[in-house]
Amino acid sequence: MRAIICNNWGSPATLELREVPSPQPGPKQVLLRVRAAAVNFPDALIVAGKYQFRPEFPFSPGGEMSGDIIAIGSEVNHLAVGQSVVGLASHGAYAQESLVDASHVVPLPAGISDAELERAGSFLLTYGTSLHALKDRAEARAGETLLVLGAGGGVGLAAVEIGKRIGLRVIAAASSAEKRDAAIAHGADEVIDYTREDLRERIKTLTAGKGVDIVYDPVGGDFAEPALRSLGWRGRYLVVGFAAGDIPKIPINLLLLKGSALVGVFWGEFVRREPKLNAGNIAQLFAWLGEGKINPLISKRYPLSQAPAALDALLAREVVGKLVILPQQID
Ligand SMILES: NC(=O)c1ccc[n+]([C@@H]2O[C@H](COP(=O)([O-])OP(=O)(O)OC[C@H]3O[C@@H](n4cnc5c(N)ncnc54)[C@H](OP(=O)(O)O)[C@@H]3O)[C@@H](O)[C@H]2O)c1
Repeated sequence: MRAIICNNWGSPATLELREVPSPQPGPKQVLLRVRAAAVNFPDALIVAGKYQFRPEFPFSPGGEMSGDIIAIGSEVNHLAVGQSVVGLASHGAYAQESLVDASHVVPLPAGISDAELERAGSFLLTYGTSLHALKDRAEARAGETLLVLGAGGGVGLAAVEIGKRIGLRVIAAASSAEKRDAAIAHGADEVIDYTREDLRERIKTLTAGKGVDIVYDPVGGDFAEPALRSLGWRGRYLVVGFAAGDIPKIPINLLLLKGSALVGVFWGEFVRREPKLNAGNIAQLFAWLGEGKINPLISKRYPLSQAPAALDALLAREVVGKLVILPQQID
């Protein structure tokens, strides 16, 4: 089978397309023929050696996928060869075949179309993160106001859409007209171009001086402090990621003055530590997807050989919604 291989830490350009042996599932694993692999920001961080963990070389990046089960471990009883599933892993999805722990597999309906399979295989990480952030960490209540930074990106657009689903007023901040248009199409009530407009002043105007109840921040960098200062009384600031690169240093007196809270969000660890709560969230997301109540956006698809270009586009801040790699197409 062919796979995108990482053999040293670096930029996406260091990745290589290679012919490699088919892996064999361990007792508690399944082997997938990968039909769609999501492109997520952590994939780029793993290739650069900058993520929370570092796989052993050589490895394929990619933590989220959908496909068909082609082999099954001896202790796996609840899944069958031929079933279409979503699989979550730390890495391995940018390949024609990939191993996934059977406990991290979600079965899909038989006969699912290619388009549905691509969406199912590329929305769980972003929508799972945003649902966990808003529901479990911020304990958002209908009628509250939410500010989303990086609102046209993967987790940001998911936060916009889930925010609307749970009855929030959503203010979406993003750098390009295309990203802001996507945020509006996914339910945002107001948009801010935070590269040109003064974030604090706009929030003051939009909230009649009251401030927002929740900030969802996957960006970090220079926007963090003005966003934190835009919280209202008892506001919650969700620390989701640092796509801008710099980890903000926050004067903690700001929390005291607003009676506000800085709240960390780490979906991968939540999945590991709180499987029951996560299973409920996943069921909720698949129900919303099936009923058309959420509408995850895939803006571009790439053949396997173009996976480095997909990661480059993500790092260049160009992506609206999600990118997907189709590993059965080589080029
Ligand atoms: N905590 C968790 O559990 C969790 C889970 C998933 C992802 N994350 C993190 O969340 C962050 C976003 O992930 P994502 O998949 O949504 O990525 P994404 O689709 O690339 O979106 C990131 C957004 O950040 C903004 N940005 C600002 N400066 C940037 C820069 N220098 N390079 C790239 N983007 C920049 C961009 O929006 P504008 O152009 O509009 O500014 C971009 O749309 C990452 O740090 C990721 O590791 C965390």
